[in-house]
Amino acid sequence: MKHIDSAPSTPGKFKIEKSPYNRLRLHSSLAKPTFWSLVFLGLIFVFFYRSPPHTTSDLSRRSLRTTFYRDANFEKRVRASAKIRSTNGISVLVTGAAGFVGTHVSAALKRRGDGVVGLDNFNHYYDPSLKKARRALLQRTGVYIVEGDINDASLLKKLFQLVPFTHVMHLAAQAGVRYAMENPRSYVHSNIAGLVSLLELCKEANPQPSMVWASSSSVYGLNTKVPFSERDRTDQPASLYAATKKAGEEIAHTYNHIYGLSLTGLRFFTVYGPWGRPDMAYFFFTRDMLKGKPIPIFEAGNHGTVARDFTYIDDIVKGCLAALDTAEKSTGSGGKKKGPAQLRVYNLGNTSPVPVSDLVSILERLLKVKAKRLVMKLPRNGDVQFTHANISLAQRELGYKPTTDLQTGLKKFTQWYLSYYGSGKKSAR
Ligand SMILES: NC(=O)c1ccc[n+]([C@@H]2O[C@H](COP(=O)([O-])OP(=O)(O)OC[C@H]3O[C@@H](n4cnc5c(N)ncnc54)[C@H](O)[C@@H]3O)[C@@H](O)[C@H]2O)c1
Ligand SMILES: *[C@@H]1O[C@H](CO)[C@@H](O)[C@H](O)[C@H]1NC(C)=O
Repeated sequence: MKHIDSAPSTPGKFKIEKSPYNRLRLHSSLAKPTFWSLVFLGLIFVFFYRSPPHTTSDLSRRSLRTTFYRDANFEKRVRASAKIRSTNGISVLVTGAAGFVGTHVSAALKRRGDGVVGLDNFNHYYDPSLKKARRALLQRTGVYIVEGDINDASLLKKLFQLVPFTHVMHLAAQAGVRYAMENPRSYVHSNIAGLVSLLELCKEANPQPSMVWASSSSVYGLNTKVPFSERDRTDQPASLYAATKKAGEEIAHTYNHIYGLSLTGLRFFTVYGPWGRPDMAYFFFTRDMLKGKPIPIFEAGNHGTVARDFTYIDDIVKGCLAALDTAEKSTGSGGKKKGPAQLRVYNLGNTSPVPVSDLVSILERLLKVKAKRLVMKLPRNGDVQFTHANISLAQRELGYKPTTDLQTGLKKFTQWYLSYYGSGKKSAR
C-alpha cells in the first residue's frame, strides 16, 4: 500500500492484539485437553469476576467478554458522549477512534456538535501509548472511547441499545502492508470478521444506521494506468491487506443488496499528519533522521521512482464528514430490506504524487538534519511503485477538494512530532 513502508520489517516488535478473548480464540484451536481446561478456567473466571448483579435480565446474561466493560459509569459515559449539541446533528459510532484518522474525525464531529462514541481495542500493532494519548486528547473534547473489539457482538449490541446511532464511521482495521506476512490472521480478524460483525449489528439495528468506512487505495494493486479511478479494475491486490480491503468492498455490496444498508467506502491515499502512524514512512523517517540513523529509500527496477499521493489528514477529515453528510438513510429495518439503498465508493487522495526522495528532502529542510539515504530495491512484499488518485468523483459528489500540499502538511507534522517527542532521546519507539 501507501506507506512506502520501507525499513526492513522488524519481527517481534509488535505484539499481537492483547484482548483477552483473542487469546481464548487463538487457543481454541489447540489440543482438546487444553480447550477443556480453558473452558473450566473461563467458568471460574466468570464466577469470580462478575460484578454486582444488574437489574435487567439482558445484562445478567452478558458473555464473559463484556464483563470487562462493566464499570459503574460505563452507560453514563456513553450517553454523555453521544449527546447531540447542534440542530440537525448526527449521532456517530466511530470505530478505530484511538487511531490516527479516527481521532481526527471524532474531534471534528464533536466540534461541530454531533454526538460521538468511540470504539477501539487499543491493540499493540504500534505503540499503544500513542493511542492512549489520542484518547486523552479526545476525552478533553468530550468524546469517550469504549475499549473493545468490533468482533464483540454483545458489546456492539449494548452500544446500539444505549444509543440509536444514525451513522457508523468505521475506521478500525489492521493496517500496514508488510506486517501481513508476520501476522496474517490479524487482517482477517479485523478487516473481514470484524467488518461482518459490525454489519450484522447495523442490519439488525432499528433504525439501521448509514455506514461510511475506510477502504484503501491499495485495492488498485498492480494497476499501471494512472490516475487511479473508481471505475478501474481492483482485482490484482499486491498484499493481504489490500485483499482484505477489496473483500470488504464486496461484503459491503452484499449487505447493501440484501439488507438495504446505506454504505460508502472511502479509498484513502497515504494519509499523513500530526498524531500520525509510527509504522508509516514519513513518521519513521523523521524519527530515524533525528537519531542519525540511515533511512531506506526504495526504488523500482531501472531506478524507477517510488511515489505516493500523500494526503493531509485535514483534507481526509473533510472528505469523511462530507461522506457522512451526503449519506442517505438505510432502507431496511429489523433485518429486512425495504427498498434499494445507497452504495458508494470514492477515492480520497491529493492528486499529486510525490517521489519518496522528495519527501526526504522536505523533511531534511524542516528538521535541519541531513538524511543518511540507503537506496534499496523495492521488495516485492506488498508495496506498489506508485499511487495517484483521480478524485473527480469525490469532487463532484462530496465537494471534496484537498488544499494542503506536502510541504505545508509535513511542516505541521514535524512541529507536532517535535513537541510530542522532543528532538532528542525521548523519541518514538
Ligand atoms: N493512514 C493511511 O494512510 C490509510 C490509507 C488507506 C486506508 N486506511 C484505512 O483507514 C483506517 C484508519 O487508519 P489509521 O491510519 O487511522 O490506522 P490506525 O491503526 O491508526 O487506526 C486503526 C485503529 O483501529 C483499532 N482497531 C484495529 N482493529 C480493531 C478491532 N478489531 N476492534 C477495535 N478496534 C480495532 C486500532 O487499535 C487503531 O487504533 C483503517 O481502516 C485503514 O486501513 C488508512
Ligand atoms: C477521472 O475520472 C473521471 C470519472 O470519474 C473521468 O471522467 C476522467 O476522465 C478521469 N480523469 C483522468 C485524468 O483519467
